[in-house]
Parts: sequence; C-alpha cells; structure tokens
Amino acid sequence: MSQKEKIVVLTGAGISAESGLKTFRDSNGLWEGHDVMEVASPQGFERNPELVLDFYNQRRRQLLEVLPNTGHESLVALEKKYDVSIITQNVDNLHEQAGSSHVVHLHGELFKVRSTQNENNVLDWKRDLILGDLDENGFQLRPHIVWFGEMVPMLETAIHITQQAKTLIIIGTSMQVYPAASLINFVTREAPIYFVDPKPSVDKSSFENLTVISKTATEGVPTLVDQLLGKET
Ligand code: APR
Repeated sequence: MSQKEKIVVLTGAGISAESGLKTFRDSNGLWEGHDVMEVASPQGFERNPELVLDFYNQRRRQLLEVLPNTGHESLVALEKKYDVSIITQNVDNLHEQAGSSHVVHLHGELFKVRSTQNENNVLDWKRDLILGDLDENGFQLRPHIVWFGEMVPMLETAIHITQQAKTLIIIGTSMQVYPAASLINFVTREAPIYFVDPKPSVDKSSFENLTVISKTATEGVPTLVDQLLGKET
C-alpha cells in the first residue's frame, strides 16, 4: 500500500458561503444582529442562556436546509490520490455531508451538544436545545461549540496534523481568529501553500511557497484540485 502524500486543508466560513451560510466578517461583526460576546461566550450563556440556546437553535435549523457546494465536494475528490485531512473552523457539517473522511472541528459542531458539567460528555443533536434538556446526571446541556475565551481542545491534534502536511490549502478564512490562524506557521518550509479567497487576507511576503488564488471556493477549489490530481503522474 503506497503511502499517500498528506494534504491538509484549513477552512473557514468562506467555503460555506456559496451554500448559503453567512460568513462572520461579512455580517459586519454582528451575528443575526447579536454582539458576538452576547451569544458566543461563557459569560453570555451565564447571563442569558435562553438567548444563546435560541441563537444556536436558529443556526441548527438553518443548517438542516443547506447542502455542500463544489468547494466541499472537490476536496473529497482529492482523497483519490492524497491522504487528506480537513481542519475546519466551521461548525457546520458540510465537509462530512460532501463525504470528506477526516474532518477536525476546531470550534465545535452545531449538530452536537455537551454537558455543562463535563465537556467530554458529547451527544449528537439535530433538534432545538432548550433549558431543561439535561445530561444523564441532571446537568444542563449546551451547544458543543468552542466559545470566545474557551480553550480549543483539538488544537494539539490540528498542529500535529499540519506538521505532517506535504501541501497546505487554506480556503475561506480571514485568518483573524487564533489559535486557528496560527496553523499556517506549522507547515514545513518546503510545503507549498495555496490560499483560496476572493479577498485574501494573507501577507504574501511572509511565506515563500505561497500561491494566492483570489477566487471564491466554487471557482478556485475545483480547478486547484484538478491541478493537484493532474500533477500526480
Ligand atoms: N469563497 C471563499 N471565500 C470566501 C467566500 C467565498 N464564496 N466569501 C467570502 N469568503 C472569505 C472572506 O473573504 C473572508 O476572508 O471567507 C473569509 C471569511 O472570514 P470570516 O467571516 O472571518 O470567517 P472565519 O475566518 O471562518 O472566522 C473564524 O471567527 O467568528 C469566529 O468562531 C468564528 O470560526 C469563526 C472564526
């Protein structure tokens, strides 16, 4: 069994934009009209749990209606020739819906909830979550989302995977949120980096092997994947 070359793909909200999910920065900093700290922080949940639960219920209901786009789907095709790991900041399940076989969620998942008392007690959950939905020990359940100010449990895993990358592809992220944005610094010097974003926010001078593709995910990713598949002769 030939050892397939490792390609790591770091994705953000931009790859799901053409599926109909709003990006964060394009919503001029408000999330469905809310300040981010009101609906995506432990303090916000403490202050007004119903508001937070309703905010994620709305996003969960919306996610039931949307489908992957050719950006997600072409990354699946890449698996024919490469060992592909997707590291995503997105909490949607569009990479999984498209068929990607290895997806690491840095910021959690909308279709999962967890105990407020034990972060490792995680349940699949596709319906609304309300006050009074409790874990088996009687503790309130909360969205399985990494809120601002909380630790990123999958960070070490993501760094380890990125260090193995022969090629890094970054799609649809403004690289403004850490530690996710720091992953670009963990690839080896010789690894080519492809950055797909219509309004790329990466400093070209800081990476010698960087190719910026100033296109949307559905325009840029299928073409890049064809190139990488074709390259393999
Ligand atoms: N195709 C590709 N990229 C796109 C598209 C598209 N059709 N439309 C927009 N973009 C790009 C934007 O130019 C921007 O660079 O996607 C990026 C989206 O950036 P953000 O809205 O900041 O989303 P993201 O980088 O994923 O945010 C990271 O911040 O708000 C927190 O936890 C939240 O995971 C999120 C994190």
